[in-house]
Amino acid sequence: MSHAGGVLFLLIVVSYEIASKVEFTNIVCTSLDKEFSDFEYCYLKSVNRTYKYVSAKCNLYQTPVKKVKVNFSLYKRFNGYRPFMYNITVDACRFLKNPKSNPVTLFFFSSFASFSNLNHSCPFSGALFVEKLSTEFINHQATKVLPFPEGDYMIEFNWIAYDINRAVVKLYLTLS
Ligand SMILES: *[C@@H]1O[C@H](CO)[C@@H](O)[C@H](O)[C@H]1NC(C)=O
Ligand SMILES: *[C@@H]1O[C@H](CO)[C@@H](O)[C@H](O)[C@H]1NC(C)=O
Ligand SMILES: *[C@@H]1O[C@H](CO)[C@@H](O)[C@H](O)[C@H]1NC(C)=O
Ligand SMILES: *[C@@H]1O[C@H](CO)[C@@H](O)[C@H](O)[C@H]1NC(C)=O
Repeated sequence: MSHAGGVLFLLIVVSYEIASKVEFTNIVCTSLDKEFSDFEYCYLKSVNRTYKYVSAKCNLYQTPVKKVKVNFSLYKRFNGYRPFMYNITVDACRFLKNPKSNPVTLFFFSSFASFSNLNHSCPFSGALFVEKLSTEFINHQATKVLPFPEGDYMIEFNWIAYDINRAVVKLYLTLS
């Protein structure tokens, strides 16, 4: 797939995700290098049938962190989770310096930036967190509906600092 094609796919997938009924079903955070960073917490909370949220906090131990890449890929569950349509790597520091340069990532980032402390330019120090990110909010942001299969999905984020994969966050969702 060409780069432009991939970007279009991502846009369609992201648009649909926030446009349909989305529900978080689980979140799993794994530190791959506990001397570099580790999670203080990472959980899904169901307040009631309609209000669920995820929170996660990752403490950084070798700061300031000046070089970060994030890659994220979507998986859909068939028999086990299989790669599905999108797969993208972003230089986080370059992106944060000029978010408008990457509209697709910005669109995605906008769905959780205000629930996090990630919206600032590099470097990163202290801790990274996302607090009470709810699907209610994501659903609320929806403006366009595009056809996309219902089912169980997983988004995997790899957090790569100085070219070493340091942590993996897997967010499980159901689209209906
Ligand atoms: C679910 O909990 C939220 C937050 O406490 C509340 O605002 C909402 O009204 C509740 N919804 C239902 C259906 O109880
Ligand atoms: C994503 O793309 C990279 C580079 O093209 C590839 O190595 C990797 O296996 C892909 N991952 C998924 C989940 O498709
Ligand atoms: C993301 O990075 C990890 C670690 O370098 C790699 O194993 C994985 O294939 C990458 N995925 C994508 C989507 O590029
Ligand atoms: C990030 O912060 C800037 C400056 O406060 C703000 O203008 C922008 O809308 C924020 N971006 C997102 C995606 O929330």
